[in-house]
Formats: sequence, C-alpha cells, structure tokens
Amino acid sequence: MLRGRRVLLCVTGGVAAYKSAYLARRLVEAGAMVRVEMTESALEFVGPQTFAAITGEAPFTGLFDAALVSPHTELARWADLVVVAPATAATLGRIANGISDDLVTATVLATTVPVLLAPAMHTEMWEHPATVRNLETLREFGYHLVGPEEGPLAGGDIGLGRVAEPEEIMAAVAGILGGEGQGRRILITAGGTREPVDPVRFLGNRSSGKMGHAIADAAVARGYDVTLVTTADLPVHPAAKVIRVETAEEMFGAVEGIDPEIAIMAAAVADFRPADAAESKIPRADGLSSIQLASTPDILASVVGRVDRPFTVGFAAETGGLDRAREKAGTKGVDLMVYNDVTEPGSGFGTDTNRVAFIDREGEVEELPLLAKREVAERILDRVSAGVGGRG
Ligand SMILES: Cc1cc2nc3c(=O)[nH]c(=O)nc-3n(C[C@H](O)[C@H](O)[C@H](O)COP(=O)(O)O)c2cc1C
Repeated sequence: MLRGRRVLLCVTGGVAAYKSAYLARRLVEAGAMVRVEMTESALEFVGPQTFAAITGEAPFTGLFDAALVSPHTELARWADLVVVAPATAATLGRIANGISDDLVTATVLATTVPVLLAPAMHTEMWEHPATVRNLETLREFGYHLVGPEEGPLAGGDIGLGRVAEPEEIMAAVAGILGGEGQGRRILITAGGTREPVDPVRFLGNRSSGKMGHAIADAAVARGYDVTLVTTADLPVHPAAKVIRVETAEEMFGAVEGIDPEIAIMAAAVADFRPADAAESKIPRADGLSSIQLASTPDILASVVGRVDRPFTVGFAAETGGLDRAREKAGTKGVDLMVYNDVTEPGSGFGTDTNRVAFIDREGEVEELPLLAKREVAERILDRVSAGVGGRG
C-alpha cells in the first residue's frame, strides 16, 4: 500500500510515544521507508533503540549531533510525508508560531511535503485557548490532522486528547499518500436549513446532516482539502474546515465565497422562507393564521451555473420515485445526482443508513443496497473520482 513511500515519523514527548513504535512497525509492514526523529522529551518515554530495531536505522535526536550536516533540511527533502505522532501541545505551539528550535520543529518548517499531526494531551491542554488557537493556525497552514480521540489518558484520567490509534493514523497516511484527493479542493454542504419565523420559531426540515458529515470525514481520509458548510452540530474530522450556518441565505453566502474543484451538495436547503421574520416572539394571543413565504436562493443552480463550474453532485431527497429524481437530475444539470426515497425504512433523514441510487448526466441509474452512511459516502467519492478523472 505504501511501497517505496518515504515517511518521516517525528515522535514528541508524551506517554503515547510508545504507540509510535507500533505505528513505525505498521508503516514498515506497509512497505514504507521509515526514518524517525525524536525530541529530547520523547527520549524520556521510549528508547531510541526500539525505533532503530523496527526501522533498521537509529532515530535522529538533535539538530547538532546527527551524522548529517543539516539534518532538518536533508530529512525534510527526503520525506514524502512527515508524521508527527504523538504531537505534544508544546510542539504544536512551536510549529504554529514558527519556533524551529529543535530537530522536529525545524524539519516541519523546512519541508514542503504534506505534514500529518496526531495531537495527544490531557483534555485541559487540548481545550486551552492557546492550543485551540494554535490548531486553527495549523489548519490554515494546510497541515493534516488525525485525532485526538476520547478515552483513557495518562494518570488515569478519561477525556478528549488520546492520540489516534495507529490504524487510524495509517488510514490518514494512506489517504494523503495514496488518496486521489491530494491537493484537490472539495466543498460539501450538510444539514437542513432553518428559516426564522420569529426569534424562537423556524421553518425547517428533517435533515440531520449525518450524510454530509460522513462524506466530509471520508473525503479527509482520501486526502482532499475539505470545506464543510453545515447547519448540523455534529462531529467532523478536525482536518476539515467547517463553516457553520443556519439559513439558506447564509449557506448561499458561504458557498459563494468558496472556489472548489468538486462540490457535493448534500444539504437540504429550504426552497421558501418566511418573507418577513418577526423581530420579537409572536405572542399566541396575536394569532398567526398564515405565513407569507419568499423564495430562497437556489444554491445548487448557482454552483452549476459558474463559468468554471466544479464537478457537482446534487442530492434529491424525494418521495416521488426514481422518475422524479431523474427529471430533477436533468433540469439541475448536475454531474451526478444522489437519489434517496426518504419514506423508505432505514433510509434518509436522521438514520445511520441510507439506500441511494446514482443518476449520471446521461440518465444512467445505479441502485445501491441499504448501506451505512459512511459506506455510501465512500461510494459517492468513488463515483466523483471516476467522474473527475473522466473530465480530464
Ligand atoms: C508523564 C508525562 C506525560 C506527558 N504527556 C504529555 C502529553 O501527552 N501531551 C503533551 O502535550 N505533553 C505531555 N507532557 C509534557 C511534555 O513532555 C512537555 O510539554 C515537553 O516539553 C514536550 O516537549 P516536546 O514537544 O519537545 O517533545 C507530559 C509530561 C510528563 C511528565
């Protein structure tokens, strides 16, 4: 899977450093050429001999004591991918602020290849405003992130901050090095919009956002540069850039500001909104016999209508059968329409599974069985990958 790919594994000073020995072994087993850098603190947790035995080469442990003249630049150029696992709060902070005062941080600053960070720390450290800000900066720099996860931490505590498991880091490595998404910008919309009637009430729909978030997670794993515009308060891979919105108008504004090569429009966007939302709550005593509606912007049409339009996937959550979805695919002019009948059990809104059919530009239909939403996400990305390739 990683045959011949050169992975530079940088180990920093947390208890989770012991897991990186297993990660090194998994990388070697997958065919990668692995070299290891360790910070001074990392050496307090695992011995360099462990990594030497696994990789066949002694780890590099300092800027000035290595056999190489300029280890940070030479290793930075050698690598196809730099993985920092575990990545301590201290190392993340130094990278985010350009402080290259040890071998690991100097290498990360000196490299032009993708960098994957696997943060690990106590929950309090993870939630500290300094770490939150540093992570934001690191995301802006375009670094890939994997984890952290929730679970037992050092000292018997339990919480968010546990390093991602080696298998998950392996998947992220494969996604970056082997994934078709590398360097490609993908926009994903998710969730149902809410159109205010007054400050308390809204007109909405049953979309949970689970499908769109599953696509975002799968796209990150394939190495795409993901922007998720969502109304849903659901977890998503930390490497995705997330823009939270509520109304169709807000979603339209957010989408207008993004220039992707691929757009997957999974959000259920309201077609109509109350024409004049009340500024204060409408009292029951006043009554409300009707609501005047106005049209919302057609986000999908505006994306498809762009001069340099992205490869566009639309969603048709329908109750009217495949024919209606086929008709919609034609009129909307999308490259791929994902149809699902929301009245079917186990399918559509709020469920963890979905039964969908794909309709392409020629009207060809591929019906899928009932699948977990993550699996549906993978199938959609397979079709996108084939479709984008076909476009040249
Ligand atoms: C037992 C122990 C466990 C630690 N675990 C972590 C950890 O998981 N994450 C972290 O950010 N710092 C952890 N630290 C603190 C770091 O070792 C410390 O901030 C160090 O300066 C990190 O240096 P480095 O990033 O150059 O490796 C731990 C310290 C001790 C003593």
